[in-house]
Amino acid sequence: MVKIIRRCRQLFRALFAKMEPKDHAVVDRYLNEIEKLLFYRMQPAVQKHCVNVAETVSVIAGARPDLDHSLLMKAALLHDIGKSGLKISLTDRIWYVLVRKFSSGLAQKLARPGKSPLMSRLRNAFYIHLNHGKIGASMAQNAGLSEELVFFVRNHHNTNLISGSEELEILIRADELN
Ligand SMILES: [Fe+2]
Ligand SMILES: [Fe+2]
Repeated sequence: MVKIIRRCRQLFRALFAKMEPKDHAVVDRYLNEIEKLLFYRMQPAVQKHCVNVAETVSVIAGARPDLDHSLLMKAALLHDIGKSGLKISLTDRIWYVLVRKFSSGLAQKLARPGKSPLMSRLRNAFYIHLNHGKIGASMAQNAGLSEELVFFVRNHHNTNLISGSEELEILIRADELN
């Protein structure tokens, strides 16, 4: 129930999400020029989500000088770049969330790459949602980003790896909260 409420809140926020000057300042502070190009390919609502994740990461990791703060901030800002390959409408996102809640197996079955009208567009949105970690990792790799960043982008929904990386655990927690 808590998860569903959080999802609804996330969708509601996505409707009105807007990058503000203070958000652009966070991007300027932590990302280099190539990373910024990747960041600004995402839709504004996803950009805003990533800045929110970065702010949460900053709070969680704030008291931990042993962690690489700047790497974690980059990972938070870039973790969803795999969603920027195509424009996904809010309606498609709502459908995706609803179908996945109903049955994750059905979402897997419906997911297909490619863009054509109607059902195919929706199936493509499902494909991107389900594979954006992998898609984003290859974008990060092609852009020459560090191995660590590629790892975080690829695995930011992979809870099986949490025990092996405290940084990944923080990123996943912050993502869930936003
Ligand atoms: Fe994600
Ligand atoms: Fe995310």
